[in-house]
Amino acid sequence: MQRDIESCNTYNYGDATYWDARYVQEAGPFDWYQRYSSLRPFFRKFVPSSARILMVGCGNAVLSEDMVKDGYEDIVNIDISSVAIDMMKKKYENIPQLKYMKMDVRDMSYFPDDSFESVIDKGICGTDAPLSAAQMLGEVSRLLKPGGIYMLITYGDPTVRVPHLNRDRYNWKITLYIKSRPGFKKPGGISSSSKSLLEPVPITEKGLLPPGFVLEDPESHYIYVCQKMDGMMDVGDAPIDLETESVVYR
Ligand SMILES: C[S@@+](CC[C@H](N)C(=O)[O-])C[C@H]1O[C@@H](n2cnc3c(N)ncnc32)[C@H](O)[C@@H]1O
Repeated sequence: MQRDIESCNTYNYGDATYWDARYVQEAGPFDWYQRYSSLRPFFRKFVPSSARILMVGCGNAVLSEDMVKDGYEDIVNIDISSVAIDMMKKKYENIPQLKYMKMDVRDMSYFPDDSFESVIDKGICGTDAPLSAAQMLGEVSRLLKPGGIYMLITYGDPTVRVPHLNRDRYNWKITLYIKSRPGFKKPGGISSSSKSLLEPVPITEKGLLPPGFVLEDPESHYIYVCQKMDGMMDVGDAPIDLETESVVYR
């Protein structure tokens, strides 16, 4: 499930040619990092099934299909690769809950402000390129409704991701979760524990894991749940639980 992270770090961000060539070579469906089944608790907690959802950098992942099977009603999927988008459009032409559009995440001016309740980003790489990260996240922030959620699923740990996410102009409340790689077994063959799956991991103001924090799986994936707080009341340390707190989108 962890395809080729090295190339992910070094490719030219937003290079459609790179991704087009890759999708011609590897046409079969593939989900980077995690499948919906293992992410489901996070989606059910933070993303209402009636939400209008934007899936950025969808690739040829099955994630959106699995979400629809689980009751999600409206998912707009975008990707910079026309090869991926053409493939997915054809595959899902009879599934009205899924729409596919070729678009660069750094310029989503096609959509008006406050268009989505949730934006999901599983594995758009390149937040290592600061300008692109700022363009992308600025667009995500613009498109999110107040109270909306940007969920980022990545291999990038808080030292590299939090400085990009934690900007005053976005006004996001960031909560971090950590998930072992699929199938990870602790030394000795014991399966990874799932007891603390939905327990947020505290991060310091500088975006570091707390001193002495030990990752069960050193190559864990990180789930950043960022809630747009503009026009919202701060309800304390935890983000608002969308299933129980009846957030009103404006
Ligand atoms: C690592 S893959 C992840 C694919 C899928 N989200 C998944 O979880 O399996 C990154 C995807 O981001 C897309 N991408 C890269 N830069 C992009 C950009 N600037 N705008 C839109 N999509 C982009 C690539 O075409 C690729 O499909």
